[in-house]
This record gives sequence, structure tokens and C-alpha cells, in this order.
Amino acid sequence: MVLVGRNQERLHAAAGWIGGRTGTRPLAITADLSLLSETRRAAAGIRTLAPVLDVLVNNAGLLSPRRVETAEGQELTLAVNHLAPFVLTRALLPALQASGRGRVVMTGSSSSDMARIDPDDLPLERGWRMTRAYARSKLALLMTTMETARATAGTGVTLNVVHPGLVATGLVRSGGIDQAAWRLLARVALSEAEGADTPLHAALSPELDGISGRYLKRRVPVATNRLARDPALRARVLAATERLAGPG
Ligand SMILES: NC(=O)c1ccc[n+]([C@@H]2O[C@H](COP(=O)([O-])OP(=O)(O)OC[C@H]3O[C@@H](n4cnc5c(N)ncnc54)[C@H](OP(=O)(O)O)[C@@H]3O)[C@@H](O)[C@H]2O)c1
Repeated sequence: MVLVGRNQERLHAAAGWIGGRTGTRPLAITADLSLLSETRRAAAGIRTLAPVLDVLVNNAGLLSPRRVETAEGQELTLAVNHLAPFVLTRALLPALQASGRGRVVMTGSSSSDMARIDPDDLPLERGWRMTRAYARSKLALLMTTMETARATAGTGVTLNVVHPGLVATGLVRSGGIDQAAWRLLARVALSEAEGADTPLHAALSPELDGISGRYLKRRVPVATNRLARDPALRARVLAATERLAGPG
């Protein structure tokens, strides 16, 4: 197991926690996934440590209260929620193929269900809003994952997108939601352990052997945003993503 995170202390605490419960020694790579250069470096590190990869779970994500551009000039929400998992997955496909049954789990969000998308303006240079940027990043992730699933059909690699549910994590609490709204949401929110259920199902369950290109909620494949079912639009979103992500 290789963990990737930007905060060395938290990363090592997580590795220690997992190691203590499983008797394994997870490895850790420190990388800021808002930067494509660091994401590529992390992918190269994973390839070296694990040339054969059974499962890749892309989970890092954020809800940014302001429009921020990274040092590489990318819109932050799109960079972490969409470009990083896209680049990591693309770089690790050979290692996943080498396993013969490699699985990719993308952490999407039901916020994508009603989102709109303009392939010519994925970073939302026009009309940026916190929730719109988040939902669009998750819809872009869903659409490119569906395209990659189609392109990799028959290779043994499967890719699925999961919505974990509304989970009481730092992302929800710190995402500009005021305290009164949070008190209401907290009553229905899942615990972090409950929120891990659908991602773990997608990563491990034999029920999903050979199943690719699905969007799962509460373990069950459900319909995506209708925009994600438009092959021409998916291809345009993929092309725009490839342009933003650059080669390799
Ligand atoms: N919570 C929900 O209700 C909900 C609903 C739908 C989807 N999701 C998705 O679930 C995933 C996990 O989110 P969460 O709810 O568990 O929120 P969280 O507790 O805030 O976790 C987000 C994780 O992403 C990491 N991360 C953020 N920016 C990063 C960067 N630049 N480089 C490396 N790592 C970075 C954070 O690292 P640090 O520990 O260093 O901060 C943290 O570990 C996200 O993709 C989110 O969009 C959550």
C-alpha cells in the first residue's frame, strides 16, 4: 500500500494507523496534488514502489471558498479534484494493467448530478462560484473517467466513480457552510467510516469484477448527469482536460 498526501505528519500517522491494524507497512509519498509536477512525481514514485498495482483510489479533494490559481496557473478546485486524479490514473494505467484486474476508484460527488459544463472553460474563468467550481470539477472527473473506461475496455482495468454520501468531514465543515446550516446537515451526515463504505465496495467487492464506467451511490450503479451520457461532449471534456494536464 502506498499513501499519497501533502502533509508528512498526517501521512505518517495514517500509515502508522493502518500498519498497526493490518500488520503491513504502508509506504508514503508526500505530494501536493494541486500541482501537476508533484502529481507526476508521485505517480513516478508509485510506479517504482509498486510496478504492479491492484487498486488506485483517488480520494483527495477540496471545496475552495475563493477562486485561487496554483503556482502552475491552474484553478485550484479543478487541479485537485479533477486534473490530479486524471494525471495519476493515466500515468498508472500500465501498472494497473500489469495486475490483470486493476481497479480505479474515483471519488466523485452527487453535486455533479445537476452541474453544467463548458469544455472551453473548465477552470471557470467566467462565473466562478465555490459550489459551481466543485460540481463542475466532479462532473469533469466523471466524464473523463467514463471515456477512459471506454478506452480501456478489455484490458482488465476497470474504472468507476463513487459518491460517498454526505459525510461529516473537514471538507463539509470548512467549505464555507455556516454553523447553523452545518448543525442541520450534521443530523443526516454519515460518519467517516460510513462514508468509506461505497469507495471500499468499488475497490474490493467481487460483485464489481469486470464492471467499469459506472457511477455508484450506496454501492449501487445509478444514472449520471445526462451531460455525461453525451459521447461528443465527453470527448470535448477529455480533450480540454488533456490540454490542461499536458503530456505525460
Ligand atoms: N464529505 C462529503 O460529504 C463528500 C461528498 C461527496 C464527495 N466527497 C469527496 O470525498 C473526498 C474526500 O473528501 P472528505 O470529505 O474526506 O474531505 P476531507 O476530510 O477534507 O479530506 C480531503 C483530503 O484531500 C486531501 N487534499 C486536499 N488538497 C490536497 C492537495 N493539494 N494535495 C494532497 N492532498 C490534498 C486532504 O489532505 P490534508 O489532510 O493534507 O488536508 C484530505 O486528506 C473528496 O474527493 C470529496 O470531494 C465528499
